[in-house]
Amino acid sequence: MSRREVLAPGGFGNNGAVTDEPLVLGIETSCDETGVGIVRGKTLLADAIASSVDEHVRFGGVVPEVASRAHLEAMVPTVERACAEAGVRLADVDAIAVTSGPGLTGALLVGVAAAKALTLALDRPLYGVNHLAAHVAVDQLEHGPLPQPCVALLVSGGHSSLLLVEDVSAGVHALGSTIDDAAGEAFDKVARLLGFPFPGGPHIDDSARSGDRAYVDFPRGLTSGRDMQRHRFDFSFSGLKTAVARWVEARERDGEPVPVADVAASFQEAVCDILTRKAIDACRTRGVEHLLIGGGVAANSRLRALAEDRAATAGIAVRVPRPELCTDNGAMVAALGAELVARGRAPSELDLAVNSSMSVTTVVA
Ligand code: KG4
Ligand code: ZN
Repeated sequence: MSRREVLAPGGFGNNGAVTDEPLVLGIETSCDETGVGIVRGKTLLADAIASSVDEHVRFGGVVPEVASRAHLEAMVPTVERACAEAGVRLADVDAIAVTSGPGLTGALLVGVAAAKALTLALDRPLYGVNHLAAHVAVDQLEHGPLPQPCVALLVSGGHSSLLLVEDVSAGVHALGSTIDDAAGEAFDKVARLLGFPFPGGPHIDDSARSGDRAYVDFPRGLTSGRDMQRHRFDFSFSGLKTAVARWVEARERDGEPVPVADVAASFQEAVCDILTRKAIDACRTRGVEHLLIGGGVAANSRLRALAEDRAATAGIAVRVPRPELCTDNGAMVAALGAELVARGRAPSELDLAVNSSMSVTTVVA
């Protein structure tokens, strides 16, 4: 089979048998996770992950060069682990999908080079896909076909976006995004300030459970006045981060102890209030009845609870994939790849380039 040939559902597997749905291998290396996932249609068969997060802890954030080297070392063993987990041979794979942007250039290059090598060796089609669209497509592995249309709130350490999705394989419409820090980045920076290790989001989540959400009324950026009019579906978290820093500094200057759980809960409440308010507003404005939440921050317990509450009041249904599928992984890339194959979309060329700032409107590069 030529790698330029577009597989349709009901295509041929390597042994000539007619398969109902394509077997797709997905590779994700846009940040610090080396993810290799294998899906058949909308069924998840394997989701192998190797994370270099421990190597970044002492730096307080992801160091691109360290991440790239870790991807290089982890790639082959992670591909092998995914095949073993799925009980398939590489030769059984019908198509290869890989994140080609957005993300860290060096990290993306490792994944794209590996995907091209597999494409050449196996003579299968290659799909260079958008990381954000993959965060949307992954929900199909857990909850079945995506409702059309839906609004997607994607919140992680590298991105915070509100998207309108009609057909994830055809294109995604950007409603808004962060104008400064990503939501996860704000969690990580505030966590550092409060003495928690990187990545700080889960620590804030834990600490906030015993804190008072109303202890400090931190600012909600871009939610009122002219800012809100101009940036209705955009986010800004850098003012909030600075407000937390000032509050903590003032406390320390006065020689008083910092009530960590209360500050964590108040900060988390501000972030979750902003995110859910804007996401529900986007659904209402666009007449959309389904909200999908993805990205690492979707694991946050308060974000899930507040989204459920507010969505129920507004008559909107919420879908959030389980935490392992919310954070970066290879299964999400394979899920989007399988959707592209199923819809007969054209694959990428073999000279596929990485694009660290790929626009969300590009689904296949
Ligand atoms: O999607 P992800 O694994 O990687 C990217 O950044 O693309 O997301 C990681 C981010 C980190 O900033 C981490 O602190 C945050 O997700 N995070 C959380 C929670 N779990 C992970 N933030 C808040 N609450 C959590 N429970
Ligand atoms: Zn991500």
